[in-house]
Amino acid sequence: MKIVFMGPPGAGKGTQAEKIIETYQIPHISTGDMFRKAIKDQTELGMEAKRYMDQGALVPDHVTIGIVKDRLSESDCKSGFLLDGFPRTVDQAKALDEILTSLDSKIDYVINIDVDLNILKERLTGRRICRSCGATYHKIFNPSAVEGVCDKCGGELYQRKDDNEETVGNRLDVYVNQTKPLLDYYSLAGNLVNINGQQSIDLVFEEIQNVLGGNN
Ligand code: AP5
Ligand code: ZN
Repeated sequence: MKIVFMGPPGAGKGTQAEKIIETYQIPHISTGDMFRKAIKDQTELGMEAKRYMDQGALVPDHVTIGIVKDRLSESDCKSGFLLDGFPRTVDQAKALDEILTSLDSKIDYVINIDVDLNILKERLTGRRICRSCGATYHKIFNPSAVEGVCDKCGGELYQRKDDNEETVGNRLDVYVNQTKPLLDYYSLAGNLVNINGQQSIDLVFEEIQNVLGGNN
C-alpha cells in the first residue's frame, strides 16, 4: 500500500505514522526525520537543511526531491511506503508523480489529517520526542507515565528545536502559503481522503484504518 500523509505541522502525521507502519509493515519515509538524522550526523545535507529548518522555512526543492527519489528507488519501497512530510509544494508533487511513473508505481491514498490551525501551536510547543526510539508524546495530550522518560524504551524525552513559538508561527505560515494549495492538486487527482484530526489519537487511527481497510 502506497500512502501520502498530508496535514499541517502538528496535525498528528508522525503520531499516526508510528501506528500505520506497525500495522501495515511498510517503510516510513519522513523527510523531516531524514533531515534531522543528517543534522545529527553532521553531513553536508544536514548542514544545508539546518539553515532552513531552524527558521521554519522549507528546504529547497532540488535538495528534498533528490533524497526522496533515492529513497523510493530502494527495494523495500516496491510494495508499499508511507510518505510523511513530502510533498510540500506543488513542484514536489509533480516531481513525485514523475518519480513514481519512472518506477512503474503510483499512490493509492493521499490522507489529509485535517486540524484547525488555531490549536496547532499548543500541540507543537507541548510535543516531546524520545531521543532513543523517536516515539512522540505531548506534555498534556499524550504524556509519558514518568515525566521526561519514554514509556517504550526508557529513553530521554526532548523538545525539537523548531517547536518554539516563533518558529512554529513561521511553519504554519509556510504551510498555508506553500503546502495547503496541494490539497486542490490531489483533490483534482481524485485520491484525497480527509480525516478529522481533532479527535483522540486512537479515534483518528480508527478512521484512517477504515479508509485503508485490510489492504497491504
Ligand atoms: P517535519 O518533521 O515534516 O515537521 P512538520 O510537518 O512540521 O510536522 P510535525 O512533525 O511538526 O507534525 P506532525 O503532523 O508529525 O505531528 P505529531 O504527530 O508529531 O518537518 C520539519 C522541517 O523539515 C520543515 O519545517 C522543513 O524545514 C523541513 N522539511 C521537511 N520536509 C520537507 C519538504 N518536503 N520540503 C521542504 N522542507 C521540508 O503531533 C504533534 C503533537 O500533537 C505531538 O505532541 C502529539 O503527541 C500531539 N498529538 C498528535 N495527535 C493528537 C491528537 N489527535 N490529539 C491531541 N494531541 C495530538
Ligand atoms: Zn523511546
